[in-house]
Amino acid sequence: MRTGGITTMKFDRIAAILVALAFGLAGCAGRPERPMTTIHPTSDFGVWINRLYLQVTLWDLLILTIVIISFTLAVFVFSTRAGEAAPPSTAASDIRLEIVYTIGPALVILMISIPTVRTVFRSQPAVPPKNAVNIEVVGHQWWWEFNYLDGSKVATANELHIPVARPVRLQLKAYDVIHSFWVPALGGKRDVIPGQVNEIILIANEPGEYYGQCAEFCGESHANMRFRVFVDTPEQFASWEKAQAALPAKLAPTDALAEGAKIFANSPCTTCHAVRGVSKGYLGPDLTHFGSRTTFASGVYPNTPDNIAKWITNPVEMKPGAMMPNFAVSSDQLAALTAYLESLK
Ligand code: CUA
Repeated sequence: MRTGGITTMKFDRIAAILVALAFGLAGCAGRPERPMTTIHPTSDFGVWINRLYLQVTLWDLLILTIVIISFTLAVFVFSTRAGEAAPPSTAASDIRLEIVYTIGPALVILMISIPTVRTVFRSQPAVPPKNAVNIEVVGHQWWWEFNYLDGSKVATANELHIPVARPVRLQLKAYDVIHSFWVPALGGKRDVIPGQVNEIILIANEPGEYYGQCAEFCGESHANMRFRVFVDTPEQFASWEKAQAALPAKLAPTDALAEGAKIFANSPCTTCHAVRGVSKGYLGPDLTHFGSRTTFASGVYPNTPDNIAKWITNPVEMKPGAMMPNFAVSSDQLAALTAYLESLK
């Protein structure tokens, strides 16, 4: 069938492309609930990176315009028509052309490298700010460990809390292989490398919840190595830190929780997981305040009793390559253990 010269199939294809473009543009232009974009930066670092991106793009557009104009002139003004004599060829060793060929690209590199180098130095101050919140970030296959290095000594996983409008100094380390720490709205990504401490210093300027993602291929569950950053008001951050520093692990007010606590304390879980006051494992996430997190398994699943129960019995099914072994328990034991974990607020 033909509709005005375009077949239905072609029309469908064009419509599909337009819809895809519309979705793409909507993704760029809107302000999604949990933005994972670099073009709506919400930190000083993010603003510098976005500004650099815009500067480089504008230089690129200028160069593209010059190239297109030159090309068009060459095709339409300087071409030889049928029957005309060919124009005299330029001497291969014309020194003027050599100078243009050398200075042109050098200027382009200069225009791009000056703002780039300035941004690099600006985002890595030699002296860290005095009132910064210092946090150690450790990349593991496949989850993120966050240790608060100032007074409170809080430890958590996959959900980072930072205060708004205050410098945050993240010291990035890797436990096993190279990872890369990236929260698009909060600034540039930085590699997390074994045997080396890298740093990100930033000031977040808008409270909210932000998505982060490991940005360096690090094995089977690289794509599942996500995390969240909660930018809190100073009051929210202070109360969060206070709650995280407390040790509710000792509290198990009901029989079911007491049973769950007993199962946990005597289980192989304690080899890998710390619940401060109960166990000291460090291969897996610190579970001291596990119930206060909104997600688990590196930010992939909502923290619900059903998901936790599934995870305990078969982690690999939920996250390919997960290092945690299956844990075989009766359904009563599983319910008690899940209730205990969820109670760790
Ligand atoms: Cu860690 Cu990719």
